Amino acid sequence: MLLKDKIIVVIGGEGLLGKAIVNGILHEGGVPISADIKPIKDSNNDIDYIMVDITSKKSINDCIEIVYKKYGKIDALVNTAYPRNKNYGRNFLEVEFEDFCENLNIHLGGYFLTSQQFIKFFLKQGFGNIINFSSIYGVIAPSFEIYAETTMTMPVEYAAIKSAIIHLTRYMAKFLKGKNIRVNCISPGGIMDKQPINFIKNYNSLCLNKGMLDKDDIIGTVIFLLGDISKYINGQNIIVDDGYSL
Ligand SMILES: NC(=O)c1ccc[n+]([C@@H]2O[C@H](COP(=O)([O-])OP(=O)(O)OC[C@H]3O[C@@H](n4cnc5c(N)ncnc54)[C@H](O)[C@@H]3O)[C@@H](O)[C@H]2O)c1
Repeated sequence: MLLKDKIIVVIGGEGLLGKAIVNGILHEGGVPISADIKPIKDSNNDIDYIMVDITSKKSINDCIEIVYKKYGKIDALVNTAYPRNKNYGRNFLEVEFEDFCENLNIHLGGYFLTSQQFIKFFLKQGFGNIINFSSIYGVIAPSFEIYAETTMTMPVEYAAIKSAIIHLTRYMAKFLKGKNIRVNCISPGGIMDKQPINFIKNYNSLCLNKGMLDKDDIIGTVIFLLGDISKYINGQNIIVDDGYSL
């Protein structure tokens, strides 16, 4: 029970990783609140759900207020939202300036806004903990060859957004010196999600043991960073990728 009675808001809580994180928190005795822009699908009475849009200051503050009113504190925020516009995911040469900017606005801008608003609350409360989700593609350049024979690519917006989230994490951690609020980042490698078999084969050849990870392989690191056992880990980016990025 590493998270006993900790009140933890998981933004993107209805997504692939978000759902796994919510369940992981519950398993460790914590109280997860799933906050997402998309309406809840399978209702589980053990888990609170709040609709939130990370690109809206009002929506984020409404979420903070609802949780605070119900529980009297918020121990941590985990941001796993993945906002994308309708043209997201194009090949580098086909990305329009407007789409590049819009994706940076909603994803990187949304992470900034969410952290900023929670930090304002955490400063009043006197403690807090933030985990932002980046990616190995915020750390290393892509191996484009693993996408050969697929329609997939590693979007240029993603590289810009995720590398910025890692640095934003360091900036905020240092800005909060002496405030008892820590900010860390997790950078997963690719997560199994019905990708084309050729892609998985190519991807796995660059990993050290398992290959592409499952969503549950990320949970241990999230629990670790949420728990008091990692109290003095601050401003860090932890890569979880079976060595892909080495
Ligand atoms: N899945 C992977 O392979 C992988 C790998 C590395 C990093 N990541 C990162 O992990 C995080 C989670 O990824 P995922 O695969 O679970 O994504 P996902 O698309 O399955 O889930 C993301 C969730 O974010 C929500 N969301 C989108 N826009 C939002 C907004 N404006 N406000 C609030 N919620 C919003 C969506 O409704 C969705 O439920 C992302 O930051 C992603 O970049 C994922």
